[in-house]
Amino acid sequence: MSKRIAMIGTGYVGLVNGVGLADFGNYVTCADIDTNKIDMLKKNQIPIYEPGLQEYFERNVKMGRLSFSDDIDQTIQENEIIFIAVNTPFVENKGTDLSYVESVGRRIAKNLNNYKVIVTKSTVPVGTNRWLKELITKESGNTNFDVVSNPEFLREGKAVYDFFHPDRVVIGCESERAQEMLKDIYRALYLIETPFVFCGFETAELIKYSSNAFLATKITFINQIANLCESVGGDIHLVSKAIGMDKRIGSKFLHPGPGYGGSCFPKDTRALVEIGEKYNVEMSLVGEVIRINEQQKIRMVQKLEDSLGDLTGKTIAVLGLAFKAETDDIRESPAVAIINELLNRKALVAAHDPQANNNAKLIFGEKVKFCDDKYEAVKNADTLIIVTEWNEYRSLDLGKIKLLMQGDIILDTRNLLAPAEVEQAGFKYVGVGR
Ligand code: NAD
Ligand code: UGA
Repeated sequence: MSKRIAMIGTGYVGLVNGVGLADFGNYVTCADIDTNKIDMLKKNQIPIYEPGLQEYFERNVKMGRLSFSDDIDQTIQENEIIFIAVNTPFVENKGTDLSYVESVGRRIAKNLNNYKVIVTKSTVPVGTNRWLKELITKESGNTNFDVVSNPEFLREGKAVYDFFHPDRVVIGCESERAQEMLKDIYRALYLIETPFVFCGFETAELIKYSSNAFLATKITFINQIANLCESVGGDIHLVSKAIGMDKRIGSKFLHPGPGYGGSCFPKDTRALVEIGEKYNVEMSLVGEVIRINEQQKIRMVQKLEDSLGDLTGKTIAVLGLAFKAETDDIRESPAVAIINELLNRKALVAAHDPQANNNAKLIFGEKVKFCDDKYEAVKNADTLIIVTEWNEYRSLDLGKIKLLMQGDIILDTRNLLAPAEVEQAGFKYVGVGR
């Protein structure tokens, strides 16, 4: 039976889940304190770039299953299942900022007019769901609700596909009634035999952090092997391919690059170290991953300096600002760290990204020249550095770039280009691990 769902927090995760759950036949109201966002959504404008989302969005709005509101209290009152999908940023020296989750928890307590299932989608440290349950009980003086930890595993840029084809759904809860309601809203996935993992709060919370930290570790491992390849003359692509053929290792997340970024791996690895500190359990492996990843970004600038010499006054064309392809998200993007380092070393930067220019302008303003055309960015550049693996950078017109550029070095931090072709076009090719 279709359910009435409130999605509190309509960012990347809230919007994709809201749209997806509506497509499963549920009635979903997405609510947010950001009234601009809600105004846009009411006008059928999607505030983020996420491939494939528009079609599902329009269909469900048209069918009357998806609506938007900036009235959080009313949205809570009118729905039985309340998802919390607000941001949980990591603040240096302070830890995970749970103030947004807490604020929603207090709003729920104030509006607990009948039985509700409160589902935490946001990534939250171990202990948060238990704490949330206590907070709502204390604030409302009512226990007519259940809490469920239902962590999210979608990837930006592939979020729609991931919503409809998850590798697993994790449901951490202590109530059979709530478990049945969750099974009901995800019935479409249950029927196609998506694996469901039912567990307690703490286990669900740890599954999320362990998953992200493991993937971050895998990337960091291959980045270090890539660096070793450069010194010993190995080819990282063959190393990745061959080790990935071992099913115990698996071929995914073995692409070397400028270090991982994004709104989650950096924050969730830091949070896991913090959780370890809180419980006095060593998490030094993840701590090292964080340190090595920071080095990897700066290493890209060092490679540039090794090839080009002192960067003072040199013009560097940066292609790609998003933390990965198919998104406009620049949170913790390696490109941001690389540009900051280039500016520190007194280089001049011209940049292009097919989706993320506007977000990057908010950080760099006039310090970087932003170009709508990638060929405009390379004009008179001493070096070209590719930082995001956008498909359009795989088929660059190298002849045209050679005529436009002043210098002859291409640093390909994602190994998108064929070194032989780049060299044939008259450039010096620098990749990662090959
Ligand atoms: P986001 O910043 O894109 O969206 C969060 C939204 O919550 C914003 O629109 C904000 O205005 C809103 N919000 C904040 N406080 C609110 C309140 N009190 N009431 C109503 N709305 C409020 O964040 P996101 O990327 O969607 O991430 C949300 C959570 O999901 C985080 O915990 C994140 O770690 C986790 N997560 C994110 C991804 C991802 O790919 N982005 C994947 C898995 C898990
Ligand atoms: C990641 C996880 O993949 C999701 O399962 C999870 O839900 C999400 O974090 C989250 O918790 O927010 P996302 O950050 O969107 O998703 O993107 P990924 O595709 O995982 O890439 C993360 C970073 O690692 C990017 O900077 C990417 O370029 C880099 N990466 C990825 C590599 O350098 N090499 C690889 O082989 C894979």
